Amino acid sequence: ATTKATNITWHEGAVSREERESLLGHKGLTIWFTGLSASGKSTIASALEQHLLHKGTTAYRLDGDNVRFGLNKNLGFSPEDRTENIRRISEVAKLFADAAVVAITSFISPYRADRDQARELHEKAGLPFIEVFVDVPIEVAEQRDPKGLYKKARAGQIKEFTGIDAPYEAPEKPEIHLRSDKESVEDSVKKIYEYLNNKGFLS
Ligand code: PPS
Repeated sequence: ATTKATNITWHEGAVSREERESLLGHKGLTIWFTGLSASGKSTIASALEQHLLHKGTTAYRLDGDNVRFGLNKNLGFSPEDRTENIRRISEVAKLFADAAVVAITSFISPYRADRDQARELHEKAGLPFIEVFVDVPIEVAEQRDPKGLYKKARAGQIKEFTGIDAPYEAPEKPEIHLRSDKESVEDSVKKIYEYLNNKGFLS
């Protein structure tokens, strides 16, 4: 979307990103989880946040349901609203990453184009964007059904439910591909942590 306001000016602060990162001792970036409802995104994101914080890296998680109670309380699940949901979240994640925080987002983010936009927003700002696909067969997600939402969707009580009567476009080249039905939460966290370490993002 184009900017609606006119007569606005961008202000640079007195502290550059490099100086901020050097003062705080860590770099900012965004780890973008994507996957079906009940794929395990939130569980892995939460364990990762805990692991990073215990290792001394400031990390902060933005999570689906929680953000929808606040910032995005005026949005539903139509394709347009999901796109706007992801657009706002990517802007917020970018702000956290710019502040030298590891932003961890955990949203279904079913549309490839929306995730690509989020990536572009970060890359244009010189901030790393790491897409993590939490992959699980829909049958497994449906069997888990921790909130009973698949059951409701099958019964027609929820419309436009991802994987049932709304699409999920799987990432083609995610930086990290997890199979939550085959790997433990600890294995997944380790995989992501090692990736970040190997890329030099944690030093
Ligand atoms: S999206 O598609 O990225 O905008 O969705 P997100 O913000 O991650 O919200 C997903 C959570 O909302 C609940 N919920 C639904 N999900 C998918 N489709 C429909 N129609 C729907 N209605 C409610 C559901 O609890 C999702 O949570 P998770 O944690 O993914 O299971």
